[in-house]
Amino acid sequence: MTRRAILAGTGSALPRTRVSNAELAERVDTSDEWIVERTGIRFRHIAEPDETTATLGADAAKEALQAAGLQPADIGLIIVATATPDNTFPASATKVQALIGAPDCIAFDVAAVCSGFLYAVSVADAMLRTGAARHALVIGSETFSRILDWEDRTTCVLFGDGAGAVVLSAEEVEDDRGILATRLHAEGQYCDMLYVDGGPSTTGTVGHVRMQGREVFRHAVTNLASVLGEVMADVGLSAEQIDWVVPHQANKRIIDATAKKLGLPSERVVLTVDQHANTSAASVPLALDLAVRDGRIKRGDLVVLEAMGGGFTWGAAVLRI
Ligand code: UT7
Repeated sequence: MTRRAILAGTGSALPRTRVSNAELAERVDTSDEWIVERTGIRFRHIAEPDETTATLGADAAKEALQAAGLQPADIGLIIVATATPDNTFPASATKVQALIGAPDCIAFDVAAVCSGFLYAVSVADAMLRTGAARHALVIGSETFSRILDWEDRTTCVLFGDGAGAVVLSAEEVEDDRGILATRLHAEGQYCDMLYVDGGPSTTGTVGHVRMQGREVFRHAVTNLASVLGEVMADVGLSAEQIDWVVPHQANKRIIDATAKKLGLPSERVVLTVDQHANTSAASVPLALDLAVRDGRIKRGDLVVLEAMGGGFTWGAAVLRI
C-alpha cells in the first residue's frame, strides 16, 4: 500500500460578464482577427466589483467539495494559487476558508503566477503524503483584469478572470491512482520578461502586467516540452500512454507547438483558451474541471498538467484519475 494524493473532486467559477474580442475592439486598438490568429482567444470573463479572487475561489471550492462528497469541516489544508490576491494580506486562502465556513485548518497562498496551481498541487501532494492533512482544497483563482493596463493592447487582450479548484485526498492505494509525479522549476534571471511594475515594497502601488511576449513564447514551448518529458520519465511512461494533457491556457499556438514536440495528437489536449483566455493560476484547474464534468476525463485516465509563467516558473504533474 502506498499513501497518495487522489483527485476527489473538481470545481470552477467564472465571473458573470463575458467579453468577446469584438467588444474589446470597441475600446482597444485591436481586432477579433488578430487576437484569434495570434492566440486562439475568442472570449474572456471579466470580474465585476463584487467578484474577487476570494469569492471566485470560494465558489469553485464549494463545487469541488460537492463533487468530492465532502463538507468544509473535512478540509485540513487550503492553498490558493494567485498573483491577484484580494489584499496584500491576509492570504486569500484564509478569506476562502471564512467564505466556505471551514473551521481551523492550514491555509496559505502560493505565488508562482501562471505556474501557481502546479506549485500548489505539488506542495499539497507532499503535505498530504506526509500526513499534514487528510483532505486538501487546492485552488487557482485570479482577477487579472484588475492589474491589466487597458491602454496596452499587447497584454490586455490576453487575460481573463476565473477560478478552478480541486479536492485532493490522502488515501492508501494498491494501484497507481493519484498524483504520481510532480516537477517544478524557476529561473529568476528572466523575472523582467513577465512582471507587474508595482508592489507593496517597491512602488507602494498594485502596478500593471508587463510582458515581452515573443521571449515568453519562445521559453514556454522549450520549457513545457522539457518538463513534460521529465515527469513522464519519472513515472516510466511514454507520451503515447497519456490520455489527456491539461495545459496552461496562455496561447493556442504554444499549446499546439508543445503537443507537436511531444508527438501528442491535439484530440488529447484540453483547450479552453478560446473561451477563458489566459486566467493565470486558474487556467489549469478550470480546464480540468470542464473536461471532468463533460465526461472526457474519466476514472483510470492518465492525465498530465503543465504550466509556465512569470519568474520564469514552470512545472508539470502526472496523475491517474
Ligand atoms: O501565461 C504565460 C504568459 N504568457 C504567455 O505565454 C504569452 C506568450 N506570448 C504570446 O502569446 C505572443 O507572443 C503574443 C500573443 C503576446 C504576441 O504574438 P506575436 O505573434 O509574438 O506578436 P508580436 O508581439 O510579435 O506583435 C506582432 C504585431 C506587432 O505589430 P508590428 O510591430 O509587427 O507592426 C504588434 O504591435 O502585432 C501587433 N499587436 C497587435 N495588433 C493588434 C500586438 N498586440 C496587438 C493587438 N491587436 N492586441
